[in-house]
Amino acid sequence: MTITIRRTEPGDYEAVRQIFNGPKAVWGTLQVPFPSAEQWRKRLAEPPEGLFSLVACIEQEVVGQLSLQTFPHRPRRRHVGQIGMVVRDDWQGQGVGTALMQAAVDLADKWLNLTRLELDVYVDNDPAIRLYEKFGFNIEGTMVDFAFRDGQYVDTYLMARLRK
Ligand SMILES: CC(C)(COP(=O)(O)OP(=O)(O)OC[C@H]1O[C@@H](n2cnc3c(N)ncnc32)[C@H](O)[C@@H]1OP(=O)(O)O)[C@@H](O)C(=O)NCCC(=O)NCCS
Repeated sequence: MTITIRRTEPGDYEAVRQIFNGPKAVWGTLQVPFPSAEQWRKRLAEPPEGLFSLVACIEQEVVGQLSLQTFPHRPRRRHVGQIGMVVRDDWQGQGVGTALMQAAVDLADKWLNLTRLELDVYVDNDPAIRLYEKFGFNIEGTMVDFAFRDGQYVDTYLMARLRK
């Protein structure tokens, strides 16, 4: 099985909508159920400045997405990237997240010269936390009642990876 990483294109919106239609994808992220194709079409067609959005493909099919938000117009945050990622429910646990994170870390380290990568993760999201620790992210703090998820508030870790 070959996983290919490429830049997200506007035409990927339906595949991205399908990824966020998965219950596990909603559970692990800040997305709300019932994703709209039109909202994703607009979001992918008009990305905010500084956003590097990547997708993971298996035989041309988009099965994962990662966003690396940078801050080119904030002089004191130019060294920072914020990451969010998701793998389609039926492809989780098969190396797609690792491939996406490896591509993002390479981009950050070798091309964008980012020295601090940040992300938020729910404290009970063990697969995600293990993936991030594998790439050198450390827990820096806990945000209490950070989000409302499936009827309850959930705490969130702030994690970061510093490139020395
Ligand atoms: C978190 C997520 C992005 C990881 O992507 P993935 O493709 O499933 O991850 P991988 O298959 O590359 O596995 C990465 C590591 O996670 C851990 N892992 C994967 N599946 C796991 C599971 N079911 N239970 C525990 N750990 C698991 C393993 O340590 C694995 O590394 P290893 O195989 O080298 O030991 C994906 O599961 C996902 O999209 N989840 C729902 C949305 C979400 O939680 N996004 C993250 C928001 S912070």
